[in-house]
Amino acid sequence: MRGVRVPKREAERVRRRLLEEGVLLKDYQPLREGDYVVFPVSECPDDLECVDREFLSRRKKPRSLEDALREFLPEDAVQRVTKSFDIIGHVAVIRIPEDLWDLRKKIGEAILRVHPNVRTVAAEVGPHQGVFRVQPVEVIAGEPNLVTEYREFGVRLRLEVGKVYFSPRLSYERYRIAQQVRPGEFIAALFAGVGPFPLVIHRFQPNIRAYAVELNPDAYRYLVENIRLNHAEGKIEPILGDVRDVAPERYPHMADRVLMPSPILAEDFLDVALAAAKPSGAVIHTYALGPNDDPFTEKEYELLRYFRDQGWDAKILNRRVVRSYSPRLDQVSFDVFVKKRV
Ligand SMILES: C[S@@+](CC[C@H](N)C(=O)[O-])C[C@H]1O[C@@H](n2cnc3c(N)ncnc32)[C@H](O)[C@@H]1O
Repeated sequence: MRGVRVPKREAERVRRRLLEEGVLLKDYQPLREGDYVVFPVSECPDDLECVDREFLSRRKKPRSLEDALREFLPEDAVQRVTKSFDIIGHVAVIRIPEDLWDLRKKIGEAILRVHPNVRTVAAEVGPHQGVFRVQPVEVIAGEPNLVTEYREFGVRLRLEVGKVYFSPRLSYERYRIAQQVRPGEFIAALFAGVGPFPLVIHRFQPNIRAYAVELNPDAYRYLVENIRLNHAEGKIEPILGDVRDVAPERYPHMADRVLMPSPILAEDFLDVALAAAKPSGAVIHTYALGPNDDPFTEKEYELLRYFRDQGWDAKILNRRVVRSYSPRLDQVSFDVFVKKRV
């Protein structure tokens, strides 16, 4: 950085002049060098001695992201920004409100300052898309590296943000399901993504067998890697393909438990869940989106009616709001016990 070097006795006069001329960098500390002082400047006046030096920043590390953002955003914007980001390994993924898009770099840098483990900040640049449910992102600060490793309940999950679906917000849902699994169960993990649901289950109940089906080749590649990283080979079989082909063909009516962790897709694949489920009794974990004033009633009615019409008895064991999905919709989960009528 550029600095102006002056004898100590002239320091105060020169400091005022640099301030008046608007070239003094107030965020950096002047240096003392024997009988001289060096002021950090953006431009060096011709009649003064100019030098190159490293200066220490005066800016204190903010204690929270809110504090860091308050340095340049009004309070309502601070609240909107802090509510809308996730940390996945070393990558922070943030939804930048449209009116703050021009400030994205500063917002990204604020996140880097406050979260020492975050090395990359990516902004969402569109909604989850297509059958792969992948959300496009753009790196706005830090390293341009979106391949990351996330940990949950001791499970290691490698993945590339922007290439596969993954949400840390479903962590409790995975834990909740894992607590229900009994030793010896055979599990159909449909819509498996990079494997978080079967791997968290395996972490708490290693005495299981599961097959995990995924259509996105990138997600499948990480699914295979994550099964290996978590020593679940031979317990969880990764399958690249469409659940509609795989479940009924390869493992018809064998599963004690069927996972369908996709609120968008699940409703259209209830026939596949039944084709995977054991007729003597199975639990299906399915998801839906419902209006947040009453997200359950209509979905529950449709679900039970569908199973019963197909000749299965069905009983809701649990239902819960998993998370808010949009201003008007909640994502809900239903644990349904089904048994084929004889
Ligand atoms: C909402 S994501 C859930 C991923 C994962 N279970 C998780 O929670 O991170 C749905 C996943 O299903 C996959 N998928 C979509 N249609 C599929 C199909 N017909 N057969 C298998 N996988 C499918 C998508 O590629 C995506 O990875």
